[in-house]
Amino acid sequence: MKKEFKFSYHHLASVEELNEDQKKALDGAEKATQKAYAPYSHFKVGASLLLNDDTLVLGSNQENKAYPTGLCAERVALFSYGAQQKDQGIKILAIACAGELINPDEFFTPCGGCRQAMAEYTEIQGKPFEIIMKNGDGSILVFEGVHQLLPFIFGSK
Ligand code: THU
Repeated sequence: MKKEFKFSYHHLASVEELNEDQKKALDGAEKATQKAYAPYSHFKVGASLLLNDDTLVLGSNQENKAYPTGLCAERVALFSYGAQQKDQGIKILAIACAGELINPDEFFTPCGGCRQAMAEYTEIQGKPFEIIMKNGDGSILVFEGVHQLLPFIFGSK
């Protein structure tokens, strides 16, 4: 039997259409790109978690001479949150990128490994968090939760 999986997202024309929480999270992600260490790819990524207590946890991609040793911005932010045993819960995860490699015609969406990490923290808090990302053309994608980004998540119930 053939079945279908449907997912939905919001595509907003610019930051002007975001609410205050979303703006705060995205602003954090853009600031975080300045701390990216990307001498090999030259692709700087910033991630920001807006927690339920309205604080931000920032992350950026950190590369290494031995390439697989590096880590994406989203996981740096999520693992930092986990390592500090923050139990406030995550409201929004925002992602932004910077540098001359940005292509205005492409969406910037998180890699599969980061989606799986988002799934883990969603399961921990028992509640989805929004995932928003800014594209090269300044438009924004908003996903209501990781289930809208990763079908058939490993370990999903
Ligand atoms: N990168 C991220 O930080 N997040 C993603 O979701 C995908 C890719 C980083 C990894 C590497 O440092 C650079 O972008 C180029 O792949």
